[in-house]
Formats: sequence, structure tokens, C-alpha cells
Amino acid sequence: MNLKKLLQDTTGNLLVKKWKSIEKGDIVSIEDDMLPEVLRIQAEGFKNGSSEKLIRYSKNSKNIFYVMKSKDEIVGYCVYYLKPAISLKGFEKKSVISSIATDKNFRGRGFAERLLRISTEEMKVNGISSVLLYVNINNLPAIYLYKKIGFRKIKKVKNICGQKESCYEMELRLT
Ligand SMILES: CC(C)(COP(=O)(O)OP(=O)(O)OC[C@H]1O[C@@H](n2cnc3c(N)ncnc32)[C@H](O)[C@@H]1OP(=O)(O)O)[C@@H](O)C(=O)NCCC(=O)NCCS
Repeated sequence: MNLKKLLQDTTGNLLVKKWKSIEKGDIVSIEDDMLPEVLRIQAEGFKNGSSEKLIRYSKNSKNIFYVMKSKDEIVGYCVYYLKPAISLKGFEKKSVISSIATDKNFRGRGFAERLLRISTEEMKVNGISSVLLYVNINNLPAIYLYKKIGFRKIKKVKNICGQKESCYEMELRLT
């Protein structure tokens, strides 16, 4: 792991300590036995998804690794990491969506929307000022989903969603 990642993980892990959980019904924090199913959904949803990253988050940031269940089946997940940010307002805690996906057989039923609404509500309770994400400019289902939740496009960036790919950085302000 490079130094930047190590630093990011360490500060993120510190921020996620003392995390306050809210009542989330059928959304739970990841457990080790859920990982194979979550990795399967990731592989189905992304050409170049990094399973290594999800495994690391599932060990270090369980509280902000949300798994959506329906009748005891895992139907989707959303995983964040936290990062400190300095702005004109002073020290802020921000979060970034590292990955989100719904099982192909369960898409279009509002599961990702529910995951995002509840998890961002919990972010707000924990003093997170804004949620960021990066989405490929061609991923229209995801862009529509994020817009529906209230995310706004901030800028277009290259090489974050893959080599020579363009994506939008989007933000949801919580405060
Ligand atoms: C993007 C993704 C997570 C959406 O999951 P989902 O559970 O099917 O989404 P929901 O059913 O909660 O949809 C909520 C809203 O998102 C938008 N949306 C979702 N799928 C859409 C589609 N195929 N076309 C257009 N809009 C869509 C709509 O605004 C929808 O609201 P509506 O039903 O009132 O129109 C899913 O398609 C997926 O896993 N894709 C592969 C992985 C991926 O691309 N992740 C995002 C990476 S940035």
C-alpha cells in the first residue's frame, strides 16, 4: 500500500471510531460471512472493481460499509471512507463513496436509493459535512440516482474511474 493510502486509511479509521449508528432496518454493517456475496455483486457491477479494497474496508471500516438485505438475501452494498478536509469553515469531516452496487436481479426496485438515503442520514448524524463520489460520465443510471438523492456535479475529472476514462465528481452537502 502506498503512503497516501496508508495515511488516508489511518485518519479514516480514527474518524470512524465512536461512530453513532441509527436505526436502519434492513440495512446492516458488513460481517465477514457477507463478504463473498458482496464481492460477487461488485464483480457483476464493475469491469475493474478492486476486491482488495473492499476486503480492506470490510476489516477496518465496518460501520460505514452498508449492506442491504431483502428477506435475508444480500441485494446490494454501499461502502464509504472518511477523510478530513480543511476549508474556510475550518476542519471538516467528509466522506467519499468508494463503491455502490445492487445485484442485477434486484435493480430498479429502489434498493440503492434507500441505501443512499439512510447511510447519508447516518453520515449527517455523525457530523459529516459532505459526501463526495466519482461516477463515469457514461453511467447514466448511477448519475440519475445520485441526482435524485441531491448530489450535484462539481467538475469533470480524468483517470479516476479508470485509465483515460472521464468521470464527474459529485457532492451532496449535508450541512
Ligand atoms: C446504479 C445502481 C447502483 C442503481 O441501483 P438500483 O438499486 O437499481 O437503483 P434504484 O432502484 O434505487 O433507483 C433509484 C433511482 O435511480 C435512477 N435509476 C436507477 N437505475 C436507472 C436506470 N437503469 N435508468 C435510469 N435511471 C435509473 C432513477 O432515478 C431511480 O429512481 P426512479 O425509479 O424513481 O426512476 C445499479 O444500476 C448498479 O449496481 N450498477 C452497477 C454498479 C454501478 O454502476 N455503481 C455506481 C458506480 S458510481
